[in-house]
Amino acid sequence: MKRTDYEPVPLSPSGEGPGMGAVGMRDAGSTGPTPTPPLKRRGYGARFLLMVASMGIVGAAAVAQGPPPAPKPETLSSRPGATGGEALYLQHCAMCHGPNGMGTGLLGRRVQPALLEERDNLPAQYVILAARQGIGNMPAIPRGEVSDADLKQIADYLAAGPHEVSQ
Ligand code: HEC
Repeated sequence: MKRTDYEPVPLSPSGEGPGMGAVGMRDAGSTGPTPTPPLKRRGYGARFLLMVASMGIVGAAAVAQGPPPAPKPETLSSRPGATGGEALYLQHCAMCHGPNGMGTGLLGRRVQPALLEERDNLPAQYVILAARQGIGNMPAIPRGEVSDADLKQIADYLAAGPHEVSQ
């Protein structure tokens, strides 16, 4: 009797077979109304066309090119001529303070210009303090990462700004 009780047990997992079949059926059923995805695509296309039409002022050529490319990151390799404080700045700060960096983005909400290199109002002591203590969303930069001598060079470079930043 118990064995017969056991027999139905392996049957119940096999009962998933029909379940799978049902899924298959559902899939087969859903392939019926396949016209919906193409319809959605058409809707998107129409929206895109509307967008393009509404942006006529910008000019069809400009719109066809899509959004403007993100600014290129400033790195040592993008400025091979950089030396001293500028090179150290590119190495340690530009990943956040470059044209597309989060430092630039956040500073843009309270100071202009947002690029540190374009500022004419950054005293070296302020730069050093901001870097060592951290400021707002900027983490403190420890001596193990940037030595005092290197940070001084960076601070002097920024204090001597504004610098021409080629983009
Ligand atoms: C991890 C990203 C990051 C790095 C690396 C970084 N910063 Fe920042 N920095 C920020 C952010 C974000 C802010 C804006 C803080 C805020 O306002 O919340 C900021 C703000 C500053 C400010 C304040 C400017 C002002 O007008 O108040 C100075 C100065 C500064 N950073 C200098 C540096 C220097 C020098 C380095 C390199 C040694 C550096 N930062 C590296 C993210 C970074």
